[in-house]
Amino acid sequence: MRKNSFKFKENRVLRIRQPRMKQTVMLKVDSQKPDIEKVRVAAKIIRKGGLVAFPTETVYGLGADALNPKAVLALFKAKKRPIDNPPIVHIENIHDVYRLAEQIPPTADQLMSEFWPGPLTLVFKRSKNVPDVTVAGLSTIAIRMPQHPVALALIRESKCPIAAPSANLAGKPSPTSANHVFNDLNGRIDAILDGGPTRIGVESTVLDLSVDPALVLRPGGTPLEALRKILGDVKLHPFVAAEKELPIEKARSPGMKHKHYAPNAQVIVVEGSIPAVLVKVKELAESYKLKGVKVGVMTTDETVEAYRADVVKSLGSRFNLAVVAQNLFRLLREFDTEGVDVIIAEGVSTEGLGLAVMNRLRKAAGYHIVKAG
Ligand code: TXA
Ligand code: MG
Repeated sequence: MRKNSFKFKENRVLRIRQPRMKQTVMLKVDSQKPDIEKVRVAAKIIRKGGLVAFPTETVYGLGADALNPKAVLALFKAKKRPIDNPPIVHIENIHDVYRLAEQIPPTADQLMSEFWPGPLTLVFKRSKNVPDVTVAGLSTIAIRMPQHPVALALIRESKCPIAAPSANLAGKPSPTSANHVFNDLNGRIDAILDGGPTRIGVESTVLDLSVDPALVLRPGGTPLEALRKILGDVKLHPFVAAEKELPIEKARSPGMKHKHYAPNAQVIVVEGSIPAVLVKVKELAESYKLKGVKVGVMTTDETVEAYRADVVKSLGSRFNLAVVAQNLFRLLREFDTEGVDVIIAEGVSTEGLGLAVMNRLRKAAGYHIVKAG
């Protein structure tokens, strides 16, 4: 049977229309002092309604002109993203918040001056200036000012706010390098600004300021502890620290409903004290090995020597959660490249950046969590 076609009983062949393939251009730039000519090439593509992936300090984003509904629709298509899940709108000038949002609470000023530019996304009531598709028909909008020089230069040169979800195919681990983007989206987007690996490695924290008290919808690069220092009272949405699948009706952020961060391999997270985790991971690795499947163990420096499996990879020291966060998505992708069938992953602390790491890991595992002593 021909590729991309379905055969019906009566031998009729229905061809599926694929999005037209594009030539994806790779534009390599210095991460700190990006070549302005290359940024302008990318900005021109954005202004014409095209799609450009670019580095931020968290993960790579896939950008489109946030005020151009056609461009934003193309963004959803390229990523195969469900259209009920809106992207974050990226800005480089605080004044844009007042064009894009309404009913901005006084706490927002404090948060913006403390954490912007940086890995914090704020959710406000939307303004009517924003096309419906950009906010997926919601009454709110998610906005952030990224810290990466390439991202800021691209927004400035494009002269528009840039809608940008993470630049991965929907459901896959977020990209922390230009190569990850290329592997997922080559032929589906116009260009990639390659500014090297990203520094933080997990996405921004999403904080809903359209409710009082403020509510964390997604833990990320700005730790909860840092937000509490400024705001005092911050609530965590139950999905944030969930250890099992929660009913979809409880989702407040559309992203909570959708499958996320999943590599091709099945992921199992083992949580508990270090000695108990060590025993449990060994036991699981052994039992999967006996089933004849290719086993990967995702571990930390403290225990990496203890495991014998087909592929063993360390996230770094479990006492340096910034490094663990930086490596998480890259390692999940690397296990897929190695072709393992199952990834047995050690859990880490949920303090600081650990909350974001464990949220991603538990989701990647589809909440297949094993508690060890
Ligand atoms: O670090 C990041 O945030 C990266 C970089 C590229 O900036 N972006 C990113 O975007 O992670 P994305 O689209 O993969 O995740 C955006 C999250 C989703 O969970 C989405 O549901 C949520 O933000 N979101 C967007 N608009 C929202 C809104 N109005 N209300 C609640 N949640 C919203
Ligand atoms: Mg994403």
